Amino acid sequence: MNLKGKRILLGVTGSIAAYKSAFLTRLLVKSGAEVQIIMSASALDFITPLTLSTLSKRPVYSEFSDKKTGEWTNHVELGLWADLFIIAPASANTIGKFANGLCDNLLSATYLSARCPVMMAPAMDLDMYQHPSVRTNLEKLTSFGNLILDAESGELASGLSGQGRMMEPEHILHHVERFFSTSKEFSGKKVLVTLGPTQEALDPVRFISNHSSGKMGLAIAKAFQSKGAEVHVVSGPVSIPLEKEGFHLYPIRSAQEMYEASSKLHALMDICVFTAAVADYAPATVAPEKIKKSDPTLSLDLVKNVDIAFELGKNKKPNQIHVGFALETENEEANAKAKMQKKNFDLVVLNSTKEEGAGFQHDTNKVKIFSKTGPVVQSELLPKSAIAKMILNEVKKLPVWV
Ligand code: PMT
Repeated sequence: MNLKGKRILLGVTGSIAAYKSAFLTRLLVKSGAEVQIIMSASALDFITPLTLSTLSKRPVYSEFSDKKTGEWTNHVELGLWADLFIIAPASANTIGKFANGLCDNLLSATYLSARCPVMMAPAMDLDMYQHPSVRTNLEKLTSFGNLILDAESGELASGLSGQGRMMEPEHILHHVERFFSTSKEFSGKKVLVTLGPTQEALDPVRFISNHSSGKMGLAIAKAFQSKGAEVHVVSGPVSIPLEKEGFHLYPIRSAQEMYEASSKLHALMDICVFTAAVADYAPATVAPEKIKKSDPTLSLDLVKNVDIAFELGKNKKPNQIHVGFALETENEEANAKAKMQKKNFDLVVLNSTKEEGAGFQHDTNKVKIFSKTGPVVQSELLPKSAIAKMILNEVKKLPVWV
């Protein structure tokens, strides 16, 4: 595949496999990509910047500023420039820093500033690669949406034999090509994602709500955005950082506000994903002053909230796709399928409160995806970013999409 016009940041860290980054650079440049290399200080012990700058035809950066000219290397600009950031080889040290937000060199600062997808090709000795701390860090990076290019097996520099060799440059190129060939499938599409809980006021200081963190919705919004979609997020009150993601953001509190914001957008959307945990009921009246605790008991009158997905489902056009969620505690499959019919969903994603690590708050989820037209797809317990990718894959199989 031709990578012409693609901008790739290549991070090189301290590992004997650093020599392979020269081959990788050559392959990427030959395929037409613009390659900007950033080396960690310890990478300089393994391969010279001259080799890499000659192959990439660009200066190689390793420090925040050039000692001779005093010029500052802007890691934010580098991070924003790239379409893809590859770290190859990725040492255990750098993996640990990235997983924990540590930032003591240009490479780690650029990683924290980058908005593009990130691929990492770890390289280390086999016991290091299997160490629980490295495994945990890699899982953490996966949960951030980074793609880990698993180390390959073979003879290692230590003389031991096993898994730990950096993936061969040709195989990395294959992943890069696959990434770019499918990367903008949702380009030109507008996607609405509702996420988080709603809060239904009782009085000026109290509300009824639920445990939704918004993480599932954020993963879906990011997945669509990374595939080129214009993403509109109607969000209940959440503490996850949504502002820096570049979505069109509509913060709301109550179900009614979520309904109003979503209905304004609905007609313009190609795809709507309803991940929000909308409160089904709200207090019939909101006390103007803080409710006093003078009585031993307190009864609340609740009224049914608008069902956003149901209402918008009534106006769904033939070329629109609606994806719903079902959070169930019993009769899970039957309830999920009934919701798909009632709310006019093309897909419904069932998650259960009974599964360990699934549903509210977790970084992981375990789902069954029911489609109006295709077979049921079941996931393992996976990072929400991986669940989001599965959902996008199912969207692409829908007749409306095909
Ligand atoms: O936010 P996290 O902590 O990551 O947790 C994710 C999640 C558990 C909230 C998410 O995966 C999920 O299951 N969201 C839907 C929760 C829910 O309210 O399910 P439900 O079965 O009550 O609703 C069915 C569907 O109708 C949902 O798509 C919901 O958004 C929508 N709905 C429900 C009620 C209502 N008044 N309006 C709606 O639009």
